[in-house]
Amino acid sequence: PRCPVVAIDGPSASGKSTVAKSLAQALGIAYCNSGLVYRAITWGLIAKGVTIEREPVFKTTVRQMKIECQIEGNELHVRIDGKEPGQEARSPEVNAAVSHVAASPWLRKRLLPIFRQLAEEHSLVMEGRDIGTAVFPATRYKFYIDADPKVREQRRQKQGETDSIEDRDWEDRSRTAAPLRCAADAAFLDSSRMTVEEVVRRLLDELRKRG
Ligand code: C5P
Repeated sequence: PRCPVVAIDGPSASGKSTVAKSLAQALGIAYCNSGLVYRAITWGLIAKGVTIEREPVFKTTVRQMKIECQIEGNELHVRIDGKEPGQEARSPEVNAAVSHVAASPWLRKRLLPIFRQLAEEHSLVMEGRDIGTAVFPATRYKFYIDADPKVREQRRQKQGETDSIEDRDWEDRSRTAAPLRCAADAAFLDSSRMTVEEVVRRLLDELRKRG
């Protein structure tokens, strides 16, 4: 990438979104939620009535979709055929299906250049599951944020999400294409007993250390 990238990976509700947003703000660079792209595509498939069981079924539909990713006002915006999913990207239907969609090696390969392109023009904090391992493996700024499963479940419920995150995490960890894992050169952080401010401070310290 032409611009510096901070990669933040971790399981659902580990606190990484809040922290990534806050870190991007502190650094004055763009915040990029890569999960939103997988969510928007899943939303587009559901809206078209496509069954998301197997890759070949949705491949054709995704091929015809116009997927646009842009940084606007220091945040990633995703449009599918010109439309933003908005809050519908977080619907129970999308929550239940997104990991199946994201497990597709074909789709992940297709999205790689789109994610990488964003860093050609913008310095950014990008969060997801495979940012430090697959999307920007060469960045020296990478983190893996985790938290106890119990704490994560509580955080999710506080956000008003009632679906279990266990299935999604299991799928994200066990898929063959870019599974969720901590990169060897990532700084690992357990946020279970830390406030957002504490985590952000630690990340800023680590960034300074890494120069
Ligand atoms: O981060 P968020 O929970 O919104 O991501 C939704 C889903 O998108 C994840 O559960 C995962 O299946 C997929 N995802 C992914 N790779 C990323 C980001 C998200 O596979 N880099």
